[in-house]
Amino acid sequence: MCGIVGYVGPRSALDVIIEGLRRLEYRGYDSAGVALIAGGKLESERRAGKLANLEAALAEHPMSEANTGIGHTRWATHGAPTDRNAHPHLDCTGSLAVIHNGIIENFARLRAGLEERGHELTSDTDTEAVAHLLEEEFPAADGDLAEALRRVCRKLQGAFTLVVTHVDAPDVVVGARRNSPLVVGRGDGENFLASDVSAFIAHTREAVELGQDQVVEIRRDGVTVTDFDGNPATSREYHVDWDASAAEKGGYDWFMLKEIEEQPQAVADTLLGRIDVAGRLSLDEMRLSDEELREIDKIIVIACGTAFHAGLIAKYAIEHWTRIPCEVELASEFRYRDPILDRQTLVIAISQSGETMDLLMALRHARDQGSRVLAICNTNGSTIPRESDAVLYTHAGPEVAVASTKGFLTQLVACYLVALYLGQVRGTKWGDEITSVVDDLRAMPGKIAQVLEGMEPVRELARELCEERSVLFLGRHVGYPVALEGALKLKELAYIHAEGFAAGELKHGPIALIENGLPVIAIVPPPRGRNILHDKIVSNIQEVRARGARAIVIAEEGDTTVDAIADHVIRIPSAPTLLQPLLSTVPLQVFACELASAKGHDVDQPRNLAKSVTVE
Ligand code: AGP
Repeated sequence: MCGIVGYVGPRSALDVIIEGLRRLEYRGYDSAGVALIAGGKLESERRAGKLANLEAALAEHPMSEANTGIGHTRWATHGAPTDRNAHPHLDCTGSLAVIHNGIIENFARLRAGLEERGHELTSDTDTEAVAHLLEEEFPAADGDLAEALRRVCRKLQGAFTLVVTHVDAPDVVVGARRNSPLVVGRGDGENFLASDVSAFIAHTREAVELGQDQVVEIRRDGVTVTDFDGNPATSREYHVDWDASAAEKGGYDWFMLKEIEEQPQAVADTLLGRIDVAGRLSLDEMRLSDEELREIDKIIVIACGTAFHAGLIAKYAIEHWTRIPCEVELASEFRYRDPILDRQTLVIAISQSGETMDLLMALRHARDQGSRVLAICNTNGSTIPRESDAVLYTHAGPEVAVASTKGFLTQLVACYLVALYLGQVRGTKWGDEITSVVDDLRAMPGKIAQVLEGMEPVRELARELCEERSVLFLGRHVGYPVALEGALKLKELAYIHAEGFAAGELKHGPIALIENGLPVIAIVPPPRGRNILHDKIVSNIQEVRARGARAIVIAEEGDTTVDAIADHVIRIPSAPTLLQPLLSTVPLQVFACELASAKGHDVDQPRNLAKSVTVE
């Protein structure tokens, strides 16, 4: 939610900021704005709508050349997405500008106090209060912008990343973070601040991860980090292991298409280096000892959205391979039901971004109760892995499209690895059983590539169905979360009614929804070994077809039982039942992407959404 960029250096600050905002636009795209310090003056421009609107305004009214500045792309929380509420926000004198990601919870009280003291606030945002508080604190801090920001931060409640520039401190930009992300990019004679490294990756791959409740000052020649009281603070420096090309569309119409195509490589990268020469799994970022893992008597997986669906699938693998009871819960619900947690509970927190606020709050609750938390995450240096006891990175590379695709498949692989590792450590799986699953996993990149090669009929079907108002998805066992994921993709991209059901539940109510011609997409498990799940879902498909539904079936190559009962069959290579979601999800991603494109929607930036949801 909200993308933030700050720059100090020899280049055109505006060029650096606009390029950074373009890469961060996935975080929010309700409005955008910039502020520059140029020739002893502060200049600012902001516009409702996408970054393109701001660029058009800048083309009409060019700003002065500047080497210091800040920029913002917004996902609205307080105040409608209008020009007036767009960031940056200025103080009464127009000397300083503030951009913000998060929610300042005590803003109403702060705002009332400011108005009593004669400040004139011109927007409906919580952020503007910070600009006016800084206006008061800057002289009190003898013109030290970082000190002024520290004083203001001590008055704020809630979650925030703040970045500030001031006309009387023309060679510095300062930032602060509590619960929301902010990273420093260290360049040669220049430095950057941003919500994530993609904003400055074209200029430097050396980053500094800021800790909780820290204030940072960047200058051309250095970076200073303190806590909110002004004490020197330590922060982790790291090298980003991907480059600017990974954050580009690379010839695809949408980032989502590119990320779908990257899945074979992403899955291979998640598996890379996890199996040692002796064929044993070694998860070196685990930071939990084998002894600690042997003490675990319950696992709770927490996550949101697509990551939650990965967690639902993980439960089947964890319980089957480790015999440890496993619950899966939406992070936004978790802490409010007073879950039973203790030292023997392992909480697995799954997040692509590592920033999702609902999940962060849930994991903090779990740790407060003494549970150990293992994060499965794609974003190095983000808050969730930093606050966990252990982390398994998925190494999928940057995921830019709001709809998660490679993030999901790699989360699944990471979950399988954790389940196998627990099976190995606790002795519930023989070595050769683990090796056999690992071999199956190693075959997955090739099989996913095979699925992708056969997607033209799925695209055709999506175009044909683009005027439908409703689509249902059915699955059983691990196919049920796949159905939920297929429906979520369609909702978020195509804005049509889509629902996933456990196929056995149909007869308990949802079957009433079936009417003539309604598309129903069913995920059919492998037919081998007299798979009872297979036979049951074949019956469920017959039930909906008998009531007029148009049955679209995802089934294994060679599964001829579905030919007579399906209107369309989408074929996937054979795979063990537990691993099938790595294949069956892919056509559903392609289907949603193509259908949304055919409707003329912005696939990468669906309405009302943002990639990282950093508010509760
Ligand atoms: C998926 O397509 C979504 N846009 C969304 O559900 C996402 O998976 C969810 O917000 C969780 O994000 P995270 O993995 O970054 O925590």
